[in-house]
Amino acid sequence: MFDILVPCATGIEAVVKRQLVQLGYPELPAVNGRIRIPQCDWEDVAMLNIFLRSGERVLINVARFPSETFDELYDGVYSADWHNYLDDSSVINVVAKTVRSKLFAHHSVQGVAKKAIVTKLRDVLHRTVEENGSVTVVEIDITDNVAEVNIDTSGAGLHKRGYRTLAYSAPLKETTAAALIDLSYWRGDKIFTDLFCGSGTLPIECCIKALNIAPGVNRDFDYLHWKCFPLQLHERCIERARDGVKHRDLQVYGSDIDGKAIETARFHARRAGVEKYITFTTADATTFYDNRGYGVNISNPPYGQRLGDLKQVEEIACAMGRVYRKLDNWNFYFLTPFEKFERCFGRRADKKRPLFNAGIKCSYLSFNGAPPPKNRTPKN
Ligand SMILES: C[S@@+](CC[C@H](N)C(=O)[O-])C[C@H]1O[C@@H](n2cnc3c(N)ncnc32)[C@H](O)[C@@H]1O
Repeated sequence: MFDILVPCATGIEAVVKRQLVQLGYPELPAVNGRIRIPQCDWEDVAMLNIFLRSGERVLINVARFPSETFDELYDGVYSADWHNYLDDSSVINVVAKTVRSKLFAHHSVQGVAKKAIVTKLRDVLHRTVEENGSVTVVEIDITDNVAEVNIDTSGAGLHKRGYRTLAYSAPLKETTAAALIDLSYWRGDKIFTDLFCGSGTLPIECCIKALNIAPGVNRDFDYLHWKCFPLQLHERCIERARDGVKHRDLQVYGSDIDGKAIETARFHARRAGVEKYITFTTADATTFYDNRGYGVNISNPPYGQRLGDLKQVEEIACAMGRVYRKLDNWNFYFLTPFEKFERCFGRRADKKRPLFNAGIKCSYLSFNGAPPPKNRTPKN
């Protein structure tokens, strides 16, 4: 048994908490951007890596102790049961982070921690560590002079679902896209559009959610290469994931003014196995209209980070306001760093959430439309 830590991007902690509850975990607080799940085992490692939509990675917490000196650091790291996770062939990559602490030289922290791990393994296994096998990343995080020692089970971050292989400028992280969808009113029943779809992340994540596809079902994880990991547990979770897929009719649309983006998005949708659920078209968002009733649009329009692009960002925000005013029953959501977006759009957002995307401070703005009428049972 061990504790698992799930780091979350700033602003989406509540979404990850809800996703954990949906996976059967209790409601747990996020502290310093991490959710700690106590009393986990290897099955939880597989479950969380395969099923969690918006967490950043899955870490096993192996030790936590005060660490103001290198002696304390060495003893604390040595005290962990490393032989439960590593063997004499493990390639051990130690990565250090320090915040407001007396020990701040990353290189020295990494060196001391690695020495403690290798010595402990030699003392317990009675063999020297050869480091000619699979890689294990050990994270030493010292914040306010308290060290937390974690093993990264994921490898590549959980946003790397594996379907997005072509390069595209300014794509959303898949984990962030999944969070934006969770924060919206879209539940699979209404029309979904992303009028600035770029490489297709939002429409693809929409389908992945609506069809109950486990986001990590087709990718590799570091834990799969460790001798200590019982592979049958992973296979069981994969089987559960495959059995859980629910095919259904969806109305999901992605469009972009750039034809190359649409080609890229189609390619990614094919790789994700959801191409037949999405209609991609090359179109200018500012001319959008739809008369089919209720819909949801979620987009991250251009950010205008470069000089001269700001005019375009402003024009797009104004044009989107005009588009929205013709669609009474639609909810529009925008992730944007542009502070004057609401002013240009011509309306104050119904909800404004601070969120970081690729290190840029953004707001997730919701502009709500009229809700569909509630089904009333007629009186006799
Ligand atoms: C920040 S990117 C979106 C990235 C996308 N969410 C992804 O994950 O790949 C903004 C996109 O808006 C598109 N765009 C710019 N002006 C547009 C317009 N008037 N109509 C439609 N798309 C536009 C750009 O071509 C670009 O692909």
